[in-house]
Amino acid sequence: MAVRPLGTPLSPSATRVMLLGSGELGKEVLIALQRLGVETIAVDRYHNAPGQQVAHHARTIAMSDPEQLRPLIEAEQPDLVVPEIEAIATPVLEALEAEGKIRCIPTARAARLTMDREGIRRLAAEALDLPTSPYRFCDSLAELQAAIDGSDGHPAIGYPCIVKPVMSSSGKGQSKIDGPADVQKAWDYAMAGGRVATGRIIVEGFIDFDYEITQLTVRAVGASGQVETHFCDPIGHVQVSGDYVESWQPHPMSPVAQQKARDIAQAITANLGGQGLFGVELFVKGDMVWFSEVSPRPHDTGMVTMITQWQNEFELHARAILGLPVDTSLKSPGASAVIYGGVDAQGIVFDGVAEALQVPNSDIRLFGKPESFTKRRMGVALVHDADVEVARTQAKLAASKVKPRVA
Ligand SMILES: Nc1ncnc2c1ncn2[C@@H]1O[C@H](COP(=O)(O)OP(=O)(O)O)[C@@H](O)[C@H]1O
Ligand SMILES: [Mg+2]
Repeated sequence: MAVRPLGTPLSPSATRVMLLGSGELGKEVLIALQRLGVETIAVDRYHNAPGQQVAHHARTIAMSDPEQLRPLIEAEQPDLVVPEIEAIATPVLEALEAEGKIRCIPTARAARLTMDREGIRRLAAEALDLPTSPYRFCDSLAELQAAIDGSDGHPAIGYPCIVKPVMSSSGKGQSKIDGPADVQKAWDYAMAGGRVATGRIIVEGFIDFDYEITQLTVRAVGASGQVETHFCDPIGHVQVSGDYVESWQPHPMSPVAQQKARDIAQAITANLGGQGLFGVELFVKGDMVWFSEVSPRPHDTGMVTMITQWQNEFELHARAILGLPVDTSLKSPGASAVIYGGVDAQGIVFDGVAEALQVPNSDIRLFGKPESFTKRRMGVALVHDADVEVARTQAKLAASKVKPRVA
């Protein structure tokens, strides 16, 4: 479905798009939309979020509060509502979509199903029968222990396993359990680290994968006028404590594994429906592929596409949601490496940017976040090279040259 013909921003003909969440990923989506003359409204929970700095309008509300979200959307009446984060009052989106008042990207149902680990896992494993790690949802320490031991009447999850709050992202509250001595600690950590204190966790059997990838998948209108599914080259990545530190593209895969990855991505994205880009996270061992999770929006590991693809993941998302054609082809192999804050302070400065950019074939993004934390992602280094391993080394080198400090 195409939206009306693109109009002129700040005029009655404007095509208006509201981003719910305006971090570094939303900022790039907003820039891509700006380039097409779309009028943009950047919403976040704090002032001067990265995306708010490049949008026509900035609004600051608690997006998880239905009492704040509904009036804002009704007042702004955007053509499209684009969730960029998971912590949103998704029932409001579903209600407004059902009332015919908004088009949510990709669909309000997809936003609801992916806002916690339970919705998406049950859909993938139980409704679509996709291969996943063995898992159980638990509401108490006793239930967790029983799930691991198999004393709850189901097959034992066993050791090692991973515990995650059902509502969390970027590895928050997530830890690995190697044996009985770790169970209490993992439970307590999950209780402290969830986004919403639901007290509910998922415990997953540990998959001893060879590598993990993000399969960026785009649902966009093709020449036929129908939604078609497009695949980007696989993105390899390294996660430390559940948080992405480097990524590269393409990651080599056996033809069998590649086909399975695409089949899984096709199945999950077709079910979630709508138009837009999805980041499908997969674990791979030999020719075996497991579904892990999916973002119905650009993915942090996909920032590498800013240097590797003709149309990066943000441009692909912008085009797909507007009903425009997409091109997912690779421009050059390349890699990304995260630049962390390193300090807890507001208004920090970055030494070493020139040195970073002296690394051949490099580029960087500084996100402009008003406040830095030691482990907050403040920027990313990007490098292209015909050899993806060289790109990885050089991207890490470039990232290491940037030294954030208190102003
Ligand atoms: N069952 C598992 N087996 C092995 N590694 C896992 C498992 N679940 C998560 N991980 C590791 O932790 C990372 C983060 O987990 P994920 O479920 O993607 O959480 P988040 O939503 O915070 O990204 C994964 O990318 C992977 O490296
Ligand atoms: Mg993940």
